[in-house]
Amino acid sequence: MEKLVIEGGRSLSGAIQIHGAKNAALPILAACIMTGGTYTLGNVPSLLDIDVMLQILRALGCRAEQQGEFITVHTRTAHSSHIPEELMGQMRSSIFLMGPLLSRFGSVTVYQPGGCAIGDRKIDLHLRGLQALGANITETGNKIVCTAERLRGAEIMLDLPSVGATENIMMAAVMAEGVTSLYNAAREPEIQDLQNFLNTMGADIIGAGTDTITIKGVPSLIPCSYRIIPDRIVAGTFLVAAAITKGSISLERVNPSHLTAVIHILRRAGVQIIIDGDIIHVSNPARAKAVERIVTSPHPAFPTDLQSQVMVLLSLADGLSIMKETVFEGRFKHVDELSRMGADIRVDLNSAFIRGVPRLYGATVEATDLRAGAALVIAGLAAHGTTTVEQIHHIDRGYDRIEKMLTQLGASIVRQYA
Ligand code: EPZ
Repeated sequence: MEKLVIEGGRSLSGAIQIHGAKNAALPILAACIMTGGTYTLGNVPSLLDIDVMLQILRALGCRAEQQGEFITVHTRTAHSSHIPEELMGQMRSSIFLMGPLLSRFGSVTVYQPGGCAIGDRKIDLHLRGLQALGANITETGNKIVCTAERLRGAEIMLDLPSVGATENIMMAAVMAEGVTSLYNAAREPEIQDLQNFLNTMGADIIGAGTDTITIKGVPSLIPCSYRIIPDRIVAGTFLVAAAITKGSISLERVNPSHLTAVIHILRRAGVQIIIDGDIIHVSNPARAKAVERIVTSPHPAFPTDLQSQVMVLLSLADGLSIMKETVFEGRFKHVDELSRMGADIRVDLNSAFIRGVPRLYGATVEATDLRAGAALVIAGLAAHGTTTVEQIHHIDRGYDRIEKMLTQLGASIVRQYA
């Protein structure tokens, strides 16, 4: 079982390039199956989740190879729309292959992806959206079979701005007959990246980034090449890592406009941030200041995917901070582990009350999900002594060799292959 062993107390310095966005690459890889041909994607990180998606595409009859940051996908030979259950179990977000497969083959078989450490994560909005476009759905146990003679445009209102449901419905609507209007759509930058990719393939979509997306059905699509946007959550993670170690670093190849809410919160905590084109300079000479209230909400508000990382920074801030998690019902699993490192955090329903302490102490802790794992690494960077983070496969799902990036910035962190 691989672990990360961190010697705390070093201030980060230097510069790193931020890799491409996992949550943009995954739906774009799924979209490649919508029409046969060869696609080349650039700025794709090497992550466990990307590898699972490539395994799924191969299981469906495609060929897919990753060389460094480039992925080539050949989808002409795709012959199946039945996603293997064991692969679905490895990555919930394979659910947004439904739209592309339904569009290409008129049918798709998937399995209920089930909940995970951060919450129930239902898929009812996905299924209801596909039904609105004309799909018939039958569920037998955890197996879901979805068929559609012909997909037709519809007016769809999402109960909540689900990222995955927005993506699934967008892709299913691209070659549907007529126009689809999707209301209360998610507005994340990854949705805009998907719209740009689909339009490069010949789709006719407008509105991504707003709460209303309009998709005019087109008769066909063409394969294309595309470069994925930078990963705003990885960038935010490193902003916090620099701040908590009282360091000074530069993040390159980022899009600062994707991080407005995060930058706002960090500046309120006293962190110095200078934006210079696609570079963000961040430094923090002193302890952070408490932030009286942070509420996670859909984009453009403060992202749930940076809640645990910022909580670690606030655990060493002067004063009491309150964080309210409104997106996932189970996203405080990192609190127990942080408490074992000396943090003073009390959870009441979906709010966490974080009282800053003078220091954290190294300990052996366990990652429970991707971003909680990243938060524990950040805590280890600042803690006194040695921190060992276990179950780091969670972290490898979303960070391309996190220890290499941190070592480049002067951290003492090694991956132990036990
Ligand atoms: C995407 O997950 C991201 N994953 C998540 O990132 C991110 O945390 C989340 O959006 C919110 O921003 C990918 O893009 C691959 P949602 P997704 O549908 O699409 C409820 C990471 O760390 N819901 O917006 O699954 C759901 O239970 C990951 O990179 C329904 O009730 O998120 C949740 O409470 C973690 N019914 C809320 O909506 C549905 O049909 C938001 O979920 C769908 C969702």
